[in-house]
Amino acid sequence: MTSTATRPRGARARAAITAKTLRTDRWWFAPLITVIGLGAWVAYATVRVFMHDHYWVDAYHYLTPFYSPCVTDSCVEQASHFGRFLPGWWIIPDAALTLPFLLLFRLTCYYYRKAYYRSFWLSPPACAVPDGHKEYGGETRFPLLGQNLHRYFFYAAAIISLINTWDAILAFHSPKGFGFGLGNLVLLLNVVMLWAYTISCHSCRHIIGGRLKHFSKHPVRYRAWTVVSALNVRHMQLAWITLGTLALTDFYVLALSAGWFNDLRFIN
Ligand code: FES
Repeated sequence: MTSTATRPRGARARAAITAKTLRTDRWWFAPLITVIGLGAWVAYATVRVFMHDHYWVDAYHYLTPFYSPCVTDSCVEQASHFGRFLPGWWIIPDAALTLPFLLLFRLTCYYYRKAYYRSFWLSPPACAVPDGHKEYGGETRFPLLGQNLHRYFFYAAAIISLINTWDAILAFHSPKGFGFGLGNLVLLLNVVMLWAYTISCHSCRHIIGGRLKHFSKHPVRYRAWTVVSALNVRHMQLAWITLGTLALTDFYVLALSAGWFNDLRFIN
């Protein structure tokens, strides 16, 4: 509590409340769901990334985003659209060039920060609930100072979304040439959602519409900014939806590759 000596003149003393919080609603529910949801997703993704198997369906050229681009020398040759120049050790993810940037992009995302600060660090777990730590240092010191690099991870994520889009285009394939199946719809849905999440980023919104004095002199940027702003309102939902579409796409490719079921084909 602030002592009388250091309290700003005119400021009132805080009420002496001994209870941890006066909230009686289920304020702990949202942080709990976040821990369960993010924890389950990270566990699934970790297992899949280090499985080094069942990431490619050769008949239809389906490649899971968890292995894109596949750049180690243990990758299936047909799945390596950008070469295989890294050693194939089990500790190195086959998509070692992209996964670290995607991880950093999500870790530094404004929405995810709020989610994991509240749920994992309890800092604070909810409004009007005390911080789980004695001190609050904000994002002014290492390592949280690195959160300010988010804009650069956005650029990397945009390039990776282009690569995922290329994967989805290459997947219109069958042993007869062109093909189209349920797997294509799954890959396309994932790519569309990834783009929606990526361009709804707060940094993207600032890159497109920031530092302008007159929108009227930049009609194209203004139009793009309105689109991005409309998506930005849904950024939290898109953050969760893309976790779902990523896991769904990966699981679908895993299931086909492992022979658990066959792809539903519409053309060839
Ligand atoms: S703020 Fe969430 S991805 Fe940029």
